[in-house]
Amino acid sequence: AASGERPRVIWLHFQECTGCTESLLRSSHPDLARLILDIISLDYHETVMAAAGHQAEHNLHETVNNHPFLLVVEGAIPTKDNGIHCMIAGKTAMEILAEVAPKASAIIAIGTCATFGGVQAAAPNPTGAVGVWDLVKDKPIVNIPGCPPNPVSFLGTILHYLTFNRLPLMDKLNRPLFAYGRRIHDHCERRAHFDEGRFVEQFGDEAHQMGYCLYKVGCKGPETFSNCPAVRFNGVEVWPVSVGHGCIGCTEPNFWDTMTPFYDR
Ligand code: SF4
Ligand code: SF4
Ligand code: F3S
Repeated sequence: AASGERPRVIWLHFQECTGCTESLLRSSHPDLARLILDIISLDYHETVMAAAGHQAEHNLHETVNNHPFLLVVEGAIPTKDNGIHCMIAGKTAMEILAEVAPKASAIIAIGTCATFGGVQAAAPNPTGAVGVWDLVKDKPIVNIPGCPPNPVSFLGTILHYLTFNRLPLMDKLNRPLFAYGRRIHDHCERRAHFDEGRFVEQFGDEAHQMGYCLYKVGCKGPETFSNCPAVRFNGVEVWPVSVGHGCIGCTEPNFWDTMTPFYDR
């Protein structure tokens, strides 16, 4: 892809469901078209690139070998059995990451798969799925967990990097503080019900219809750090709790093991 002066971005998909990209495709401020046509040059992205097959691989290697670029990774990296559980163009995800990551200026891991291994890492983790930062130790990495994360958290990070040429301030899990610095529970619109002891006891009961607190049916908002109640999703102004479903902790490491059962405590 011709880039002009636009910063180049390589986006690698590994062991994942593409939900992070799907969510980003519905983003606004900026929308994805403006992002990839005006702001960055997205030189490789399996879901949205026009190229296919050898042409796509050529684009990838052309950028990796000849230009500075920012690397985005979506999906976990399976490490068991020499990594054969995820292969693209004849190479394992481990091999591709080992080839591309050392040349990246910085890495953004998008989604709970690329950050912490994702649902496929749930015990007993049959493919040995891990996040990028488990394998790449010598590059600046920012983690944008969530399944999927809010596009605002990703776009804010990439625009911060392009504007200031450095990554945003992060917590100990490498999550940007602007998006993950506060607990769900501290900004939830049902918090007054929690404080007053008004709880949903069972999905569909009168308290549920009244919009009371979901803690007793499993909400993990008190243990989860994310901007969901403040930012909500993609301009439709909803987030899990606003539609009557507890938070399942999707921005936290190992939530698939540590936050379960999702519907009961
Ligand atoms: Fe899909 Fe969730 Fe993984 Fe994103 S983090 S690729 S939405 S499973
Ligand atoms: Fe906290 Fe969840 Fe209750 Fe909201 S619904 S107040 S996040 S426990
Ligand atoms: Fe995930 Fe909880 Fe937000 S489940 S989308 S962190 S409300």
